[in-house]
Amino acid sequence: MEETKQEVVSLPRLGDDAPRFTAETTQGVINFPDDYKGQWVILFSHPADFTPVCTSEFMTFASMQDEFKELNTELVGLSVDGLYSHIAWLRTIKEKIEYKGMKDIEVNFPLIEDITMEVSKKYGMIQPGESNTKAVRAVFIVDPAGKIRTMIYYPLSMGRNFDELKRAIIALQTADAFSVATPADWRPGDDVIVPTAGSCGTAKDRMEGKEGEMKCYDWFFCTKPLAKEEVFQKIRK
Ligand code: BEZ
Repeated sequence: MEETKQEVVSLPRLGDDAPRFTAETTQGVINFPDDYKGQWVILFSHPADFTPVCTSEFMTFASMQDEFKELNTELVGLSVDGLYSHIAWLRTIKEKIEYKGMKDIEVNFPLIEDITMEVSKKYGMIQPGESNTKAVRAVFIVDPAGKIRTMIYYPLSMGRNFDELKRAIIALQTADAFSVATPADWRPGDDVIVPTAGSCGTAKDRMEGKEGEMKCYDWFFCTKPLAKEEVFQKIRK
């Protein structure tokens, strides 16, 4: 029987150092992640310039750029197109496209040219089951120390949910700032999860309501209130 050779796609893992690269972008050369030390970054790929889903995504990302900046978060895009294609596409978006109330949208964040696929292969953005020639819609959230903290991959046909990307940044920053975890569908202002009791005594105290404002659903699952204002006071730039 004939064997078909499948290229192994390597994916970075959560907690890894973000793979290093130097790349040409629409905003000049960047050294990643060194140029972003001390900042959060959403590094994302899109399949191709001059395509509809990607256009809707870029317009949305660009119109939310200030909201991300307030969260000390920079955006960096990538596709396997060349620099001149990127420039032409971004000019078209600004000059011609009006979509869902967004118009005259200028994309000011860097868009990497990756014709050689050097960067996209390092990040597992080329997934042959989806396409051999285009990057999937990958999202990497990289923290101020250059570590990968969240990865999300979407297929070519599905535009990303930008509220979720913003929620993910806020949830990560909240977890770091307050040493808590965030439950399903958490939004700022909702209760947060406190670390599980590490001793029988703490478990007992919590179940007996001796730990202040905590609400325990069982000894291992306790939450406490965290006001929205407190969250933003701590994480907003
Ligand atoms: C799009 O962005 O519309 C798209 C790109 C590549 C394949 C399918 C859709």
